[in-house]
Amino acid sequence: MKSISIFGLGYVGAVTAACLASRGHRIVGVDPNPLKVQRVGSGMSPIVEAGVQDMISTANRAGLISATTDADVALARSEISFISVGTPSQRNGKLDLSHIRKVCADIGNALRKKNSFHWIVVRSTVLPGTTESVVVPAIEAASGKRNGCDFLVCFNPEVLREGTAVADFFNPPFTVIDSGDPIQAAPIRELYSFLPARVYETEIPAAEMIKYSCNAFHALKVAFANEIGTVCNSIGIDARTVAEIFKSDTRLNISPAYLTPGFAFGGSCLPKDLRALTYQVRELDLRLPLLESILPSNSEHIDRAADAILSLSRRKIGVLGLSFKPGTDDLRESPLVHLVKKLIAEGCDLQIWDPNVALGQLIGSNREFIEAYIPHIGTLLRDELLSVLHHADVVVVGTNAVTRDELAKLINDRQQVIDLANLVQPALRETAMAAQA
Ligand SMILES: NC(=O)c1ccc[n+]([C@@H]2O[C@H](COP(=O)([O-])OP(=O)(O)OC[C@H]3O[C@@H](n4cnc5c(N)ncnc54)[C@H](O)[C@@H]3O)[C@@H](O)[C@H]2O)c1
Repeated sequence: MKSISIFGLGYVGAVTAACLASRGHRIVGVDPNPLKVQRVGSGMSPIVEAGVQDMISTANRAGLISATTDADVALARSEISFISVGTPSQRNGKLDLSHIRKVCADIGNALRKKNSFHWIVVRSTVLPGTTESVVVPAIEAASGKRNGCDFLVCFNPEVLREGTAVADFFNPPFTVIDSGDPIQAAPIRELYSFLPARVYETEIPAAEMIKYSCNAFHALKVAFANEIGTVCNSIGIDARTVAEIFKSDTRLNISPAYLTPGFAFGGSCLPKDLRALTYQVRELDLRLPLLESILPSNSEHIDRAADAILSLSRRKIGVLGLSFKPGTDDLRESPLVHLVKKLIAEGCDLQIWDPNVALGQLIGSNREFIEAYIPHIGTLLRDELLSVLHHADVVVVGTNAVTRDELAKLINDRQQVIDLANLVQPALRETAMAAQA
């Protein structure tokens, strides 16, 4: 069992204190608010949250929980410190790190007087880079000691939700623990080894970003459901029925589908249907900024790809892939077709390879689209991948019709690769260190 000081007795700190004490760890809560310290010290919860009061009073009777306003006392009594102070918004929206800076100075000053190794676990939500550029330097400056030698700073985002915080603590969707030194971080992993959750270890800034991507996605889901519900209500459709049937699709809707960063969407359905829906939104005099921002967001993504290619200042470009996704010859509203058109307009010398696309065989609306939008594209298409690669100073990979290994054998060191298909370098690398239970 470990001795743990928890800095910040708010919603996160109080729940963490109660739950870790219930596992038999010895907890010292630290907070500048004397009322919170007094409550925890007398076995009472400083917050209203189901289960926390019972766990704190049980821990108090067992002598497992105490509280103080004094960081020196807390560090003297613990080997691990958790930071769970608030990280509110400033008036302009910028993240306010004043509590983080203060608690790092408090911990650093206390660490100066300590002779043994100490672990410091950041649980507050902070923007990518904060732990390495703010927390570690502040503790090193105040303590006169070195991260990785005298102490170790880890980042371990909290994923609990108020109202179900205790259940969430004991059954998280995952646990992320990062420190830059997995061996030294072993005691922190050990703290969570009883949880039925997969443990991930990646780089600290990526771990910091995971918390923001989760919260942004949760907010996006609520706003999306409300905007679709608003459309339904305004045309007399039962929004709940639509939502229930929508949610029953766990293959494409409520699933990992479409959630890997890559290139823009296109094709014969998504752009057209979003345009029709947002046109109707305007006819209904509704303002639904989320739905209305999806097509502009997609266009920006194509522009970013064009800018990345043009920034290389090399004219001879080979584009691998042209249809809107692999395995089809459908060119309608393909983001690669839009990209090619932008590059041609900028004077690039292009050759294109797509094993599924033979212009002579296109028929119907597919042919009409390409003839109207970019009729001369046929002169740029090549049947052989090799001839496109021989031409190219820059290889734009927009398809997985060629494998990473095949491509690696065919390109040379002077060629630059822009990988829109996540073929050469996967966008997300997941290193699951341990899958438990
Ligand atoms: N509330 C949630 O549901 C939740 C969930 C996950 C993550 N988070 C994140 O966790 C962090 C804490 O959130 P919260 O809701 O518990 O905040 P909170 O405002 O309820 O509690 C923060 C506590 O920190 C204390 N504090 C301030 N400076 C201190 C110092 N120098 N030393 C010790 N204590 C100090 C405050 O007095 C307060 O009691 C935030 O970064 C938040 O974004 C919150």
